Amino acid sequence: MHKVSFVGMGYVGLCTAACFANKGFKTIISTNDPKKIEMINKGIPPFYEPQLEELLKKVIKNKNLKAVVGRKEAILKTDTSFITVGTPSNPDGSVNLRFVEETSKEIGKTLKKKEDGHLVVVKSTVPPGTTEKLVKTNLEKQSGKTCGKHFLLCFNPEFLREGNAIYDTLNPDYIVIGGYNKKSAEALETLYKEFHKENSPPIIKTNIPTAELIKYANNAFLATKITFVNTIANICEKIPGADVTKIAEAIGKDHRINPHFLNAGLGWGGSCFPKDLKALIAFSKKLGYNPTLIQATCKANQDQIKFTIQKIQKELKTLKGKTIAILGLSFKPDTDDIREARSTKIINQLLREGAKITAYDPMAMPNIKKVFKEKIKYASSPTKCLKNADCAILVTEWEEFKKLKPEDFTQNMRESILIDGRRVYDPQEFSKKLRYIAIGLGEPLKPQL
Ligand code: UDX
Repeated sequence: MHKVSFVGMGYVGLCTAACFANKGFKTIISTNDPKKIEMINKGIPPFYEPQLEELLKKVIKNKNLKAVVGRKEAILKTDTSFITVGTPSNPDGSVNLRFVEETSKEIGKTLKKKEDGHLVVVKSTVPPGTTEKLVKTNLEKQSGKTCGKHFLLCFNPEFLREGNAIYDTLNPDYIVIGGYNKKSAEALETLYKEFHKENSPPIIKTNIPTAELIKYANNAFLATKITFVNTIANICEKIPGADVTKIAEAIGKDHRINPHFLNAGLGWGGSCFPKDLKALIAFSKKLGYNPTLIQATCKANQDQIKFTIQKIQKELKTLKGKTIAILGLSFKPDTDDIREARSTKIINQLLREGAKITAYDPMAMPNIKKVFKEKIKYASSPTKCLKNADCAILVTEWEEFKKLKPEDFTQNMRESILIDGRRVYDPQEFSKKLRYIAIGLGEPLKPQL
């Protein structure tokens, strides 16, 4: 069985490493952060992800996974290394490739000392051209060896979703292998066949730049799909009785559209969509092309926040001194990640308007406290969050919030005004008992037959 290593311990690195180890591969994960290493080797993930902790405990106990400081051991003791370091944004939206650069240099230095061949796989999201220009050049320069001959190189994008990371790693819709040459692509294909055995998903083999662009295309398409349905939602709000959820249900039946990623709401956030769309725009502009559609998608996604604030303003007349309850802070349910979360943008805007904020989330409270400190109040339950509020906004559709009844709002709030930012509640039931305003729902309501 192949021995694999992961350089970089974010969501992708850690979740994928845990899955490889659980399939019996001897796996090493490396980072330069000793605190993280200590946690991993005790089976404690540095972030929340469903199923990850139990998986980690298991593979650390059976010694299939080991976390180490530095890259050396990870490269020398395995035959395939995945680069899974972060690729943060520069202020102009372009990708900061500092970690990819450092890592490829370090791997190159170690490859110099390695007698056997090695397969290097870039999994971090990078602009087309990066793997061959930056990574290959560094590997060759530092090792004194030739790519495609003494070591192999692939780009292999990752499509896992936070909150579903383990499931997605085990059940991907497809795998993309961008190979430097045929031998490189075939080596990675063999590894994935060993991983998935008879349940292998379709494997698309291509050259490296095409594979690099597939990742951006995938994310840009999904973000645009959500923004499309949000646009229809905004139109619905101008038409009495129109309801975007029915429209999404209907158009989702067309197999060319499909029902996924058609949930209208406050817009998309997270560690990938915002960063990758910005990067695609910056990258295209550098090549002399303005990607108008992607730019419009980003602009429309920002506008969703503005429209939400306008809804509250319309109800409360002024926001000054009013208390707004924020239900849900993570960028989506089942994660404690608040990167580019809609909650932070809404809270910032409300604070600028002079409102007071009380916030609650089942998982993301520690992370949000680091951002807002004493600027807002924190509640220990949904109903405590609603206490004496003048308006509540449901920002993240956690299961816990779906169980709330109209009475939970009416009995706790000063003024029972609810903005359902994720279309969680039944409009007929809720609008009878409180002022219920929802994304994509035209007023006055009409029964859906
Ligand atoms: C995304 C991609 O789905 C994944 O393939 C890629 O590898 C990383 O980026 P992730 O950011 O974890 O994954 O979450 P995702 O489930 O895609 O949701 C992203 C954002 O879109 C969230 O803010 C979510 O609330 C929003 N969303 C999603 C909607 O508003 N409506 C939908 O129908 C789906």
